[in-house]
Amino acid sequence: MKPAISILGTGRMGSALARALVQAGYRTTVWNRTKQKAEPLAAIGATVAASVLEAIEAAQIIIVNVSDYTATAALLRNETVASAIRDKLVVELTSGTPHGAREASHWIVERGARYLDGAIMATPDFIGTDGGTILLSGPREVFDSNRDVFQALSGNAQHVGEEPGLANALDSALLALMWGALFGTLNAIAVSQAERIDLGELARQWTATAPVVEGLVADLIKRTSAGRFASDDETLSSISPHYGAFQHLLELMEARKIDRSVVDGYDKIFRRAIASGHLHDDFAALSQFMKE
Ligand SMILES: NC(=O)c1ccc[n+]([C@@H]2O[C@H](COP(=O)([O-])OP(=O)(O)OC[C@H]3O[C@@H](n4cnc5c(N)ncnc54)[C@H](OP(=O)(O)O)[C@@H]3O)[C@@H](O)[C@H]2O)c1
Repeated sequence: MKPAISILGTGRMGSALARALVQAGYRTTVWNRTKQKAEPLAAIGATVAASVLEAIEAAQIIIVNVSDYTATAALLRNETVASAIRDKLVVELTSGTPHGAREASHWIVERGARYLDGAIMATPDFIGTDGGTILLSGPREVFDSNRDVFQALSGNAQHVGEEPGLANALDSALLALMWGALFGTLNAIAVSQAERIDLGELARQWTATAPVVEGLVADLIKRTSAGRFASDDETLSSISPHYGAFQHLLELMEARKIDRSVVDGYDKIFRRAIASGHLHDDFAALSQFMKE
């Protein structure tokens, strides 16, 4: 029989999670601090609880999706709730840090409940589809025995490890990659605008170049994980040509008075590696210069 599920927090994401569960046939209860935001979910078949306690008592699985872990703690960390969650499964899908997840796991497990921590790698429109990824960490058997629930939320729900902080750690790593691309795009837009390149042309040429960049990213991760920092026959590009092309970018930005905030970080890392004698090593050698 399908377990009853409650969702605490029906903001943009929590509402999407609730819709996916109702759609998949789960008896779904929702609670939100601002009750009006939960009420539209009643029209599709969810039950709107009047309190956190009522929502917890209505279900075996409690999914939390509020703004941050401080908000979660404000909802759960009192004696009435602590005794109500005993023997239930709490799934924290609020974004947070690895440390926050470990601490929350400890608190929940100490109260006789099970805990999984998750990171949602998608926007609300991807929830309930095969394109949405949710990463979960915590006890493997808890994930396995509730796999159907997670699959209903995202066709690509994945268990990434037993240690509860792992999903959030991976989330931060992937966001670092994403922001690298987004801030890089801001820089590319600024250069294009200064040089009167049509932004449609930028988009077209990026589509053509993206597979090359994807290959470079995959190669960088692979070589770093193998510790292959010296240039060899398989090196796609050493630091030297990268740094040469980077100087052209800096010169153009200087001439056009484009803000250097994004590229100054790159420059610092290049310089550290080059000063340590790595100019002709594989680009992956830069990975050794990322610690303060
Ligand atoms: N939206 C996305 O694309 C996306 C993607 C991945 C992960 N996430 C994560 O999902 C979580 C929710 O995001 P969202 O986009 O749904 O944000 P949102 O629309 O701003 O909703 C925030 C929710 O948190 C609740 N909340 C905030 N502080 C609270 C408190 N002190 N006590 C009780 N409830 C509180 C809000 O309640 P009220 O309605 O009463 O204000 C609302 O339900 C965040 O951790 C976010 O990082 C979002």
